[in-house]
Amino acid sequence: MIKDQKPVYYSDYLHLSKLLDSQHPKSKEIGREAHDEMLFIMVHQVYELWFKQILHELKPVLKIFSRDFVEEHELGFVLSRFERVIKIQSLLQTQLEVLETMSPMDFLEFRDLLIPASGFQSVQFKTIETLFGLTTQTRYTVDRDSFLGRLKEGDKHQIESLEKQDSLFNLIEKWLLRMPFTEKHNFSFWQDYEKAVETMLSKDGSVIANNPYTSDFEKKIQQDYLQTTRLSFQSLFDDKIHDDLVSKGLRRLNRPALLNALFIFLYREEPLMHLPYKVLNALIDIDENFTSWRHRHSMMAHRMLGTKIGTGGTSGQDYLKKAADKNRVYLDLFNLSTYMIPKAALPKLPERLKKEMNYHYKTEEDTSITPSSSDLNNTN
Ligand code: HEM
Repeated sequence: MIKDQKPVYYSDYLHLSKLLDSQHPKSKEIGREAHDEMLFIMVHQVYELWFKQILHELKPVLKIFSRDFVEEHELGFVLSRFERVIKIQSLLQTQLEVLETMSPMDFLEFRDLLIPASGFQSVQFKTIETLFGLTTQTRYTVDRDSFLGRLKEGDKHQIESLEKQDSLFNLIEKWLLRMPFTEKHNFSFWQDYEKAVETMLSKDGSVIANNPYTSDFEKKIQQDYLQTTRLSFQSLFDDKIHDDLVSKGLRRLNRPALLNALFIFLYREEPLMHLPYKVLNALIDIDENFTSWRHRHSMMAHRMLGTKIGTGGTSGQDYLKKAADKNRVYLDLFNLSTYMIPKAALPKLPERLKKEMNYHYKTEEDTSITPSSSDLNNTN
């Protein structure tokens, strides 16, 4: 105990009287208490507490990426926050199982008393989504009015003003844009990469053409697939194809930022690339976990409601399923796998660049280049 500090009492510290007096079933208020409404309230409250924790983890991360310069150790901090969010998400997923011990008939005992309240109005959930990078344009929504129209004025303004700020997605994009390594020391990585891709695709073309076990018809189909792959690679270097994908909602990251993310993935084993790679990979995990939760929640809503509409007025399970498919933020990072090429085919990095992407101590006699831990942020 710190000197002069009053002794702390467990329940006071945790404000348990407030917390444990916050479950008030509507069915009890009308004198027809439905046993499972307590569980329903409690599970939602526990979710909201975890949402609060996720926001608590995300906010310092946003602050770090808002700066023009992100230090190496700060990336370690970011990663530890993301790893915590990922663990919380695992809990969020399994928690639905507890609620599923309630039968649809038991739910019906009190469901109508909740109308028009719904998880649709969870401001913390919408805040997480918005901070993470989901925007009105990119989310699946019945329409903007029904999305915001169901919120109280204060909550609505809160989400609207958040949408005007930089989200994690925008900040990560800016951070990626600052990466300097691909055009340095008279070395243009992307020219070499394009050549390596062309060699790989030509080889694939020859394998298809020379396969003695496939008919001409099958060969034609396979060559068409190969052509699609070729076009996909071209989208990395051609602004017109890239912009077309963006206008169709199939790509969101700015093209140079996407290329830099790809470079990080391709050279993730280089010491200076490893933490950025882990950070991007954690974003993929978080996005995937939200999508899995959405699908899981949609399945639960299906078994509870069948095809009934939701208490919040959406089409119910159908809305939730579509939202799960559409509301993904870091699709571009998932899609990077399309552009991976075998390690042996990767362009060899110039020695000087390799050295810069390495950590090494500089002794007094040593005059070799020592990389700045924040090289990743230099615009050169
Ligand atoms: C019996 C259990 C549940 C059912 C039947 C159910 C059903 C639904 C339905 C139908 C919607 C769509 C909006 C509407 O029309 O109401 C919805 C949205 C939502 N629910 Fe649930 N839900 C349940 C439990 C939960 C729990 C435990 C949470 C945890 C916080 C939750 C969080 C959400 C969220 C965040 C949304 C908004 C999703 C979005 O707009 O993308 N729900 N729920």
